[in-house]
Amino acid sequence: MLTPRTDATMPTQMEAYFRALRAREFRRLDAQGHAYLDYTGAALYPESLVRTHANALVDGIYGNPHADGPSSRASTAAVEEARAAVLRFFDADPTEHTVCFTANASAALRLVGEAYPFARGSRFVLAADNHNSVNGIREFALRAGASVRYVPLDADLRMPDAEAVLRGADRRVPNLFAYPAQSNFSGVRHSLGMIDQARELGYDVLLDAAAFAPTSPLRLRDVRPDFVALSFYKMFGYPTGVGALIARRESLRRLRRPWFAGGTVEFVSTQHGMHGMKDGAEAFEDGTVNFLGIGALPAGLAMLVDVGMARIGHHLAGLTRLLLDRLMEMRHPNGAPLVRIHGPRDSIDRGATVALNVLDADGAPVDYERVEAKAREANVSVRGGCFCNPGAAEHAFAFPADDTSRCLESLSREGFSVERFRRCLAGPAVGAIRASLGLANVEADVHHFLRVVETFGESDTHDTTKRRRVVATPPWALTRPL
Ligand SMILES: Cc1ncc(COP(=O)(O)O)c(C=O)c1O
Repeated sequence: MLTPRTDATMPTQMEAYFRALRAREFRRLDAQGHAYLDYTGAALYPESLVRTHANALVDGIYGNPHADGPSSRASTAAVEEARAAVLRFFDADPTEHTVCFTANASAALRLVGEAYPFARGSRFVLAADNHNSVNGIREFALRAGASVRYVPLDADLRMPDAEAVLRGADRRVPNLFAYPAQSNFSGVRHSLGMIDQARELGYDVLLDAAAFAPTSPLRLRDVRPDFVALSFYKMFGYPTGVGALIARRESLRRLRRPWFAGGTVEFVSTQHGMHGMKDGAEAFEDGTVNFLGIGALPAGLAMLVDVGMARIGHHLAGLTRLLLDRLMEMRHPNGAPLVRIHGPRDSIDRGATVALNVLDADGAPVDYERVEAKAREANVSVRGGCFCNPGAAEHAFAFPADDTSRCLESLSREGFSVERFRRCLAGPAVGAIRASLGLANVEADVHHFLRVVETFGESDTHDTTKRRRVVATPPWALTRPL
């Protein structure tokens, strides 16, 4: 006779829903015993999305959209349908907003950075917690004579007082504020309230939604950034090579493109050195867009709508809570914590991304490469390193300011590597492990990863070659990124 399952072993309705979704769309994970926990790197594509798109390609005849034959018109129709679907998904009014298709979020961020009319006296203010594709905009700002200021982070890697840095901008010149709606390092969700705050203080706002959009609704009728950058493979895994800049039309008109390209111009005269740019999004789409890939976007977005962003958020909040709670409970046999979590340890205003270091029994960080290697052996995909977010890393690892600049200066002459930098600093963690969850994940994935972490606490070995223990007193004044 079957024993009835107790409540404790019974999946919740939510877990049951996502197990069924996984069985339909992501069978390959269980078939290969794979725990995929790198959703902030890239989402996994559902089977049906690839099939639907493959069928459309097999049946359709799609040519370069810049011509006017039937095959071109088919491509143009697919691209315009996708543009409308993106605006609908982000609840954006098409009379106020437009979508420029790009290769990825980085290309969308660059479009703004290189064309933003920075001038002497302008400010470029950005969160210390930013992906390098936002940090890189400072080079455009500096070249134009603007000043660059970072908003510091607190011990939880949040930005408690952006206003202090934003205040005092000269409204006679253009000023730009850029920050991520969600950190790709710590999972912190930075307040969307800062958008209005910055606009009132005289800034245009560039919101990096690459890590936020996959699991949280962004409604552009409610929040009004000037520019939003994202990559679609991070939302539903397929296709790669398509991102977007969603821009307010009036803000886009204020950008000054540094060049023109095929597809962006009404006319060019080589005899007279003249050119006329197209209006709106087309002026920002260099050459031929990925018209085949873009055709897959409506089905990808529809899949997210079908599952429901609220349901995704709820499910992932539960899994993140489970992951954080179990990690914080883990101890060495001597009672010392096995894990240090970077960023909030609670589930308030955070997404499903958790950065951590495994610690040895004396509290020193285990090199992230060792943890990454054990995860790899166990068929667990996580990310190791600084995740292209040097500002959050500097705060999280509490790099001593003087040692850091000395090491970076000497290594920029001798050749930089993580190992050399780690040896030079001789103390703090240099790199962490990031576990990030998404649509395909279920509780079993969290347990799979936890078993990998647990193995580091199985024997109370004291490593005599270990580096000195780091006391986390973050150097808030540190501005030079790794
Ligand atoms: C917050 C954030 N911004 C920007 C990017 C850059 O995205 P892409 O590599 O698709 O251009 C990433 C990628 O991980 C990210 O997480």
